[in-house]
Amino acid sequence: KNYENILTSRPEPGVALVTLNRPKALNALNTALFAELTEALRLIDADREIGAIVITGSEKAFAAGADIKEMKDKSFADVYQNRFLENWQEITTIRKPIIAAVSGFALGGGCELALMADILLAAPNAQFGQPEVKIGTITGGGGSQRLARAVGKSRAMELTLTGRMWGAREAAEWGMASRVVDEGVGVVVREAVALAGEIAGKSQIAVQAQKEAVNAAYEQSLSEGLKTERRLFHMTFATADQREGMAAFVEKRKPNFTSS
Ligand code: HXC
Repeated sequence: KNYENILTSRPEPGVALVTLNRPKALNALNTALFAELTEALRLIDADREIGAIVITGSEKAFAAGADIKEMKDKSFADVYQNRFLENWQEITTIRKPIIAAVSGFALGGGCELALMADILLAAPNAQFGQPEVKIGTITGGGGSQRLARAVGKSRAMELTLTGRMWGAREAAEWGMASRVVDEGVGVVVREAVALAGEIAGKSQIAVQAQKEAVNAAYEQSLSEGLKTERRLFHMTFATADQREGMAAFVEKRKPNFTSS
């Protein structure tokens, strides 16, 4: 499908790549872009050929935030009654793993979008920030909640109250990114696609249940989360992939997963 603000492709079997593509505005996330992004993710989630998703931007900007030009004249009544940005939630309902390949600026809503991904890989030039306080507003796409969970309260406070940027190394040290990839144009996307390909080669049911289980750690108490995990674990015993995976191990051969 053709979109105006994003590009979609299949760089290798099982992997969908979504590239934010408003280069003139450093991929500022306006309503149209976000609607396209959520639609594309919904379609990809329903496509049985795809096992994992990579979201990226350009070399210079993953996304420089919500579109300030679009927001600047809105009133409280506009944003409240039209539930401005509430559709961002939809991304959290995607079952397939989402990897954010971040190069350049990931600011405001761009940083929040990266934090919504399941795995974050950072290029050495990645620059994260929640600068909302500098334009008289606050994080609105989960920044306060997800950043605090990712990097801890004191850092989340310092970063959001100053609006100061931080780099790839800090993001990885603090646990917000899983790692910093090597220097070079496009390397972060290649690494993310390779990682997505590795995940896509597994049982899709197991991968999706595993994602759901880890996410429970951020949504539920420990005892509820453990129960969710155990139920999902038991559920895998109703799948052909569990029988195939364990039989293949015992027979010393590669498993042939059918995601059923
Ligand atoms: C609209 C934006 C934009 C944004 C950049 N542009 N960020 N337009 N919304 N968030 C536009 C600029 O206006 C400019 O357009 C073009 O992109 C290039 O940007 P420059 O500023 O000229 O580039 P540079 O000097 O390299 O500076 C890069 C930058 C700066 C440091 C990233 O653009 C910047 O500070 N941007 C705003 C970052 C920000 O505050 N983000 C948070 C937004 S609030 P023209 O037409 O002049 O060429 C937010 C709230 C989230 O995200 C709420 C919940 C989702």
